[in-house]
Amino acid sequence: MPDANAKPKALIETFGCQMNEHDSQRMREILLQEGYDFTRAPEEADFILLNSCSVREAPENKIYSMVGRLGEFKKKNPKLIIAVAGCVAQQEGKRILQRQKEVDIVMGTDQIFHLPELLAQARQGKRAVRTAWMPREQKTQNFIPTEELAHFEVRGASAGLAITKGCDNFCSFCIVPATRGRLVSREWENILAEAKLLIEKGAKEILLLGQNVNSYQAGGVNFARLLKAVADLKGLRRLRFTSPHPNDWSPALTDLMAGHPMICPSLHLPFQAGADRILQKMRRGHSQAQYLEQVAYLKEKIPHIGLSSDIIVGFPSETEAEFQETIQVMRQARFSQVYAFKYSPRPGTKADSLPDDVPPRVKQERLSRVLSLFESIREEILLATLGQKLEVLIDQAHPKEQGVMTGRTGSHLPVAVLSPELRIGDLVLVEITAKRAHSLEGRLLA
Ligand code: 5AD
Ligand code: SF4
Repeated sequence: MPDANAKPKALIETFGCQMNEHDSQRMREILLQEGYDFTRAPEEADFILLNSCSVREAPENKIYSMVGRLGEFKKKNPKLIIAVAGCVAQQEGKRILQRQKEVDIVMGTDQIFHLPELLAQARQGKRAVRTAWMPREQKTQNFIPTEELAHFEVRGASAGLAITKGCDNFCSFCIVPATRGRLVSREWENILAEAKLLIEKGAKEILLLGQNVNSYQAGGVNFARLLKAVADLKGLRRLRFTSPHPNDWSPALTDLMAGHPMICPSLHLPFQAGADRILQKMRRGHSQAQYLEQVAYLKEKIPHIGLSSDIIVGFPSETEAEFQETIQVMRQARFSQVYAFKYSPRPGTKADSLPDDVPPRVKQERLSRVLSLFESIREEILLATLGQKLEVLIDQAHPKEQGVMTGRTGSHLPVAVLSPELRIGDLVLVEITAKRAHSLEGRLLA
């Protein structure tokens, strides 16, 4: 017999970037307020929410095939409600309802706080689509209604905090300006208020989020000032931010990072491609030389910095010699993390009108070369830390190993520490004793 008092169960599946991850966490908190429990088993779920990504074709297709499969669960449980949120929802809107009869709710990227209304509507059997943009004034004041914020819990050592939404760069390959809208910077008083609340609720680390964080500009405050103001908050131990754009990076920002103990020595600075002709076709606005100059200054001022980047291989007309320039940038910058992608044409973007003429086999082969170079550089970076004493912020219990906690160094390298007494949120000094396949192992120092 089903328990009449049992709470309804929700399942959230997230695709894509950290902004989507952040939105999913917000929706999780809203669902908790609505009385939901959570499950990972679709057969147990009363509500399934797919937070979608459309930055490349593969994750977009995944949403449609997943919805199709979930339809089976709906046959067994007709009360199951299925929602598609995020970038595919923003872009496709009601076309999703027309195409997928299983879907009850389509909600765009600015609509997450309307989830309770949309759910109430779906429970009455009415399908709903909401993809309107939040009015600009409301966005600049606050991305999150203050009354909602008070309920939110910080789970884990690190908390995300959105400072900008959208992007005005219009890189020729990128769909983000269409799915997340034009750039809006949130008022800085609001950001500081949220940061203080997150620290009060237990966050040791704050991760400032935005598609292009360093283009932040609100009420005469630029990114550098905002970064310093958050970094100065009492009780905060670490500050990170992602992603900045090379165009808006400056030596002053490097100096600020180098000089402030709370700002982590790690930076995700996407360069996308090495050759200037390709960078121009991508409308990136920076050259290879400008990028490498920024990297050189970062390394000079912050010698132990952990750099990471995004790379696209096989952009239209990319030659082997041009691809070699991407490899060259990797060799010089020595990234400790690389996110590499095969170019994927996106509808409505400027690059979509160019012939997608690098054959799939060549794209795959270039991707493999990027990944294998990345692996060998990362191996050297990990080995170089052996014997070093590094500060680690503990963020979770090892999923498989009893008594082992894991965390990150300031430069964002993952470390496993064999010490059952450690708690999530502890910031500890660790001696690196061994290298694992993709991480480090360390011994807790007193
Ligand atoms: N094809 C391949 N990769 C893409 N990215 C964005 N758009 C595309 C596309 N059309 C990559 C970029 C970006 C990251 C988030 O996704 O490298 O920085
Ligand atoms: Fe897309 Fe370029 Fe904006 Fe990044 S900076 S979100 S790649 S348009």
